[in-house]
Amino acid sequence: MSKITLRFLVVIFITNVFTFNAFANIPKGQKAYIKNCKVCHGNGIKGAAMHTQVEWEELFSNNGTKIKQAHQKDEKADAFFKTELFSIHYKDIRDFLLYSASDSDQ
Ligand code: HEC
Repeated sequence: MSKITLRFLVVIFITNVFTFNAFANIPKGQKAYIKNCKVCHGNGIKGAAMHTQVEWEELFSNNGTKIKQAHQKDEKADAFFKTELFSIHYKDIRDFLLYSASDSDQ
């Protein structure tokens, strides 16, 4: 195997590992969405379609500052976003929503 072929394979391998990691938590995020968001926003497909990928990223950046703010007026929702449960699951939920966003291929 030439050096170039080997380098090419290494790059492919690394890219795959990263891609896999980036989406590793989607099933977990979907479960967490169903458990925590569905009561108010409907099923995952409907919920994820509320926003585009860029918008979801924005909502979930800074530990979810914007999505927390969006829920401050609703007592029940506000309480949920302050629980440890949200801080544990928010990255998984974000990945799931990004994956199924209104402008995704899903
Ligand atoms: C107890 C009910 C409740 C729960 C649970 C809840 N939400 Fe909400 N959500 C609301 C309400 C009420 C609003 C504000 C409604 C509005 O502004 O139209 C809101 C607003 C939002 C918005 C902003 C909508 C917009 O277009 O600006 C997003 C995004 C959102 N919720 C996503 C989620 C996600 C993701 C979860 C689960 C982690 C969740 N919500 C859990 C009730 C809830």
